[in-house]
Amino acid sequence: MNELLKEIANEYGTPVYVYFESVLEERALRVLKTFEGVKFLPTVAVKANNNPHLLSILSNIGFGADVLGEGELYACKLAGISPEKIIWNGNGKTKEQQKYMEEQHIGYVNVDSVEEFEELWKNSETNMELFLRVNPDVDPKTHPYISTGLKIHKFGMSFQQAEALLSKYRGKISGFHIHIGSQILEVAPFKEAIEKTINLAKKYEIKKINIGGGWGVRYKEEEKELDLEKYRKVIIPLLQNFELVLNEVGRFIFAPAGVLLTKVVRIKETEYKNFIVVDTGMNHLIRPSLYGAFHKVENVVSKSTKKIIADVVGPLCETGDFIVKEITLPRPAPGDIFVVYNVGAYGYSMANNYNGTLRPAEILVKKDGSYELIRKRESIVDLYKF
Ligand code: LLP
Repeated sequence: MNELLKEIANEYGTPVYVYFESVLEERALRVLKTFEGVKFLPTVAVKANNNPHLLSILSNIGFGADVLGEGELYACKLAGISPEKIIWNGNGKTKEQQKYMEEQHIGYVNVDSVEEFEELWKNSETNMELFLRVNPDVDPKTHPYISTGLKIHKFGMSFQQAEALLSKYRGKISGFHIHIGSQILEVAPFKEAIEKTINLAKKYEIKKINIGGGWGVRYKEEEKELDLEKYRKVIIPLLQNFELVLNEVGRFIFAPAGVLLTKVVRIKETEYKNFIVVDTGMNHLIRPSLYGAFHKVENVVSKSTKKIIADVVGPLCETGDFIVKEITLPRPAPGDIFVVYNVGAYGYSMANNYNGTLRPAEILVKKDGSYELIRKRESIVDLYKF
């Protein structure tokens, strides 16, 4: 594995994102297996990873996609995902986007608010299926920035508001949508949210439900990812009476399928602290800086017996520009290659050009062990188009 990563780093340069088809497929198949016995349409949250080559692997095993806008929809088009398997999400849909969705013949729209319903959907004749996003006021016990299902959050409508819409416009509404947050490691919050929503579904004879994403993965050694056997036991019986169940998992499918390779620029030591400066940072992986997220880092080149305790930091002009802090690892040398794990979700898709830097290339390692470029590294001219 290390040899392969070194080879890719040499051939394509660093920083570079590398994805493994075998892992991606295995994760996606686990989603399908969990829902066996349910009338189920799996979709993948494109916000987690929008590379069309990766999306097409998922499309080939039956996945549709959850998108937030035209950009993500275009990735799905390139991936060959058929429009009737697309769900459009978001709390800021515009009239122009509504028209665009119609023209593209997408399948489902999750309506975020009463205001959106009244402005865009109340008077429209549409073939798209409208799902009301309800906010079940459930605490998913995750980072506050990625927790979405409490009543103080900007997403969804209250059950009272949904009822008011249903009592007037029942014929226009196909289903309910819930998404309570991301990186959820326990089954209980999912159960609570779904049960609350089912009560309302029964009352109004709603037969379709989209239970969102949110499945948590293992970033730290001491963590356990969401227990899918338990999930199956607890959640699947609740869904038996629905004509259609959709979900929108992103992180669970992509996170372990991707790594980021970065090169050590230098080791900087002061009287107080050591820093390993690498050629990537919060521009290509913002999760540590934005959510205090942990990503394991290893040296794929040297296995020196000397240890160092250091922060692995990027080259950008912010103290928040780090990959991991205070880790103990074999002392690296400049030019060594580090691998940053579990970055397949919300890694590249949140990358940016801060400090005029370029987004990395992306490589896919196929099941037969061969690899290919699936997105070019940006070039400086890409930055200053006008
Ligand atoms: N559905 C909706 C409506 C969502 O907003 C999201 C994620 C998903 C599905 C997929 O959730 P997942 O299965 O990936 O947890 N940037 C953050 C995560 C933000 C999640 C936003 N919404 C991070 O890096 O942790």
